[in-house]
Amino acid sequence: MDQTLSPAEAAELLARDRAHAWHPYASMTSPPPAYPVVAAQGVRLQLADGRELIDGMASWWAAIHGYNHPVLNAALRAQLDKMAHVMFGGITHPAAAELCELLAGIAPGKLPHVFLSDSGSVAVEVGIKMALQFHLSQGRSTRKRLLSLRGGYHGDTFMAMSVCDPVTGMHHLFSGAFPEQVFAPRPEAGFDAEADDAALAADIAGFEATLQAHAYELAAVILEPVVQGAGGMHFYSPAFLAAVRRLCDAHEVLLIADEIATGFGRTGRLFACEHAGIAPDILCIGKALTGGYMSLAATLASERVSRGICEGEAGVLMHGPTFMGNPLACSVALASIRLLLSQPWQRCVKAMESGLREGLAPAARLPGVREVRVLGGIGVVEMHSPVDMTRIQRRLVDRGVWIRPFGRLVYTMPPFIMQPDDLAALTRGIVDTLETLDEGDN
Ligand SMILES: Cc1ncc(COP(=O)(O)O)c(C=O)c1O
Repeated sequence: MDQTLSPAEAAELLARDRAHAWHPYASMTSPPPAYPVVAAQGVRLQLADGRELIDGMASWWAAIHGYNHPVLNAALRAQLDKMAHVMFGGITHPAAAELCELLAGIAPGKLPHVFLSDSGSVAVEVGIKMALQFHLSQGRSTRKRLLSLRGGYHGDTFMAMSVCDPVTGMHHLFSGAFPEQVFAPRPEAGFDAEADDAALAADIAGFEATLQAHAYELAAVILEPVVQGAGGMHFYSPAFLAAVRRLCDAHEVLLIADEIATGFGRTGRLFACEHAGIAPDILCIGKALTGGYMSLAATLASERVSRGICEGEAGVLMHGPTFMGNPLACSVALASIRLLLSQPWQRCVKAMESGLREGLAPAARLPGVREVRVLGGIGVVEMHSPVDMTRIQRRLVDRGVWIRPFGRLVYTMPPFIMQPDDLAALTRGIVDTLETLDEGDN
């Protein structure tokens, strides 16, 4: 995959980027360094100077099959020869219809109706809109608020932001610009908590109290099942999730499961809801949906929810993005899901879980480390204090490893295809880097 640039070409690329390209959560007046990637193959990213990095990010949970995969490339090429795009209003096409059928077939529970959109944040917007329209159509006009968990992350558009953790989501900055939602405490009982665990009982009681106090004004509860991702890489008990489902039913509040990060096997189950044996009323998916190739997301609804919406005053769901159901994105999503399901992916994720546990274990003994935790294909080293991302990233890159720590969290969620030797090199790179942290790094 040699696509290297000369030092002059690389410098020119970086100068252009610095002058004009606004990166995620970045300053434009003092831009952080960007690493020029010129090619990617399997689990490796190639930098402009020829260095290769083992990718521990799967491009933000998405590239589960790695990069430049022949099956996914072929699906895109075949679709490109037929049609790159066509509007979805009043028109359908094979890739979208087949994808919606496939998604409805694999989703937890019965969620037969699929609304396609362009990104995770929009899938969340659509899910929230579905919940609001559902209650409005039943004449429950007070039910316009959402209940979310502290420590959650659901995207960067405004309604999605309103249900993110108020502190890490910096709600004070935007005060008055979006509706104020209701927040329940972050569930503290860990993934393995037993039924008689006191922390679990306290989590459920805290949630129930909040839900009970606000049920009359709530359209839905929205949460990331079992793993809270960008809000803290926090794992909680499936028993808590099962209790949430029960309580939502008891109070006639819908449950929206945001599986944008956890969907498609990342936690060891195809969907994280399966750990609790529950089905949401509305499900949001994205990220790994296309194997990380293209931006595509979906919001799935139960029969009850979609009937409720369509029997209401509007008679339709009031949403319709221009690039909805893009054929290229749908065809690569179909290929990616079929590829995943045709393989023993559970075994791969289980093996990755063992490799992450073994490889990251030495970090637990380091003085700056608060906790090491692993679930499925997610490995997290939580530090006592925030790390300097730019400095630590430079050291990781020097060791041939790509991850993007934030705050106190140094974490990895590699492509599922990563082999044991690469996984060992990845975790060794992380542990060695943390071992040599000095005062300036945090
Ligand atoms: C759980 C969850 N929901 C929603 C989003 C937003 O998705 P996108 O970045 O595609 O808009 C993310 C992104 O990280 C996420 O992790």
